[in-house]
Amino acid sequence: MEKYSQFRDRATGIAPFLPVVSEPAGIYLPIYICLFLFRLPFFVTLCATYFLFLQWFPLGSLFKKALLWMIMGIPGIWWIDLQIDGVKKGSLAKNESRVPSPSNVIASSFTSPLDSLYLAAIFDPIFTVSYPHTRQVEYISLFGAILRALSKPKEFPSKGAKMTDIKTLVRYHPKRIIVVFPECTTTNGRGTMPFSPSLLATPPRTKIFPISLRYTAADITTPVSGEYWTFIWNLLSHPTHCIRVRIAEAVYNTSISPEVDKKFSTDALDSLGDESAISSSTETLTSLSDQDMTEEEQKVLHRVGEALARLGRVKRVSLTVTKKSEFIETWSKRKK
Ligand SMILES: *[C@@H]1O[C@H](CO)[C@@H](O)[C@H](O)[C@H]1NC(C)=O
Ligand SMILES: *[C@@H]1O[C@H](CO)[C@@H](O)[C@H](O)[C@H]1NC(C)=O
Repeated sequence: MEKYSQFRDRATGIAPFLPVVSEPAGIYLPIYICLFLFRLPFFVTLCATYFLFLQWFPLGSLFKKALLWMIMGIPGIWWIDLQIDGVKKGSLAKNESRVPSPSNVIASSFTSPLDSLYLAAIFDPIFTVSYPHTRQVEYISLFGAILRALSKPKEFPSKGAKMTDIKTLVRYHPKRIIVVFPECTTTNGRGTMPFSPSLLATPPRTKIFPISLRYTAADITTPVSGEYWTFIWNLLSHPTHCIRVRIAEAVYNTSISPEVDKKFSTDALDSLGDESAISSSTETLTSLSDQDMTEEEQKVLHRVGEALARLGRVKRVSLTVTKKSEFIETWSKRKK
């Protein structure tokens, strides 16, 4: 594994691109094979029916969500552990302002094709792709978003991509939620990558909800591009999967409040004794300032990044999309 040491974050030791290896099936292997063979036809039929036909019909959001829940039900994703910052478990109905609602933005972690499927089943949002060097985003379909989780990282949008920005999407789709994956590419969920500046195009009064999705077992995350079969096998052969969903308090794209400011400076003091923490934060800052951001803007991204890392109980890493591309190349050579 040390061959991949260059793809480990120097400050934290986290390797966010290495695939999560499944527990050996052992004596359960025959059961897994049966489950897989039993579920596959249902799964393929339902997915094909939905994505080839039904999604194009005006069936109503509720009906579409129900179909998406069925797609998630087949592989046994039925246990979802939802927690919302500042809301006691079970008292969700009392405070709607803590959950994303139309014309809000979701900044989601990005580890698996299931991220988009789950978000679609709950919120029926608009999906976007972010790129590391632009504030614009690409508007894509749910199916496009699912495929993105399995496809190669891209530093720049391809020619002819439908580019827009969050401000425009919010203006033209006031009844929808906008989903942004600010890390631009998938990880195994063990670290949060530096963010694209795309979130900075959010209007100042629009709520940005950081949402972290974590899976147990984590082998249904897809940090390595192109591993369709491994994903489908892990998804369909295991009896059940659990999703842990955490929603943070909304962050706004505005200059920082004095309260939070104070907290930052204490954080900085706390970490003075810790050399690695300092090098990590300077690394993050240098990589961000490449992109012509003001200090205010970096703070906005910093707040969303900290929230996502806290929700996922992980650390922020400084490995970029370029690093991930290099990793994918090294990884595919290894297999040959
Ligand atoms: C819901 O939360 C908002 C903001 O946190 C707060 O202002 C409001 O009073 C809460 N409403 C209820 C019914 O608890
Ligand atoms: C978002 O906030 C940043 C910094 O606070 C600002 O530079 C940027 O213009 C804002 N974006 C929008 C669309 O208002």
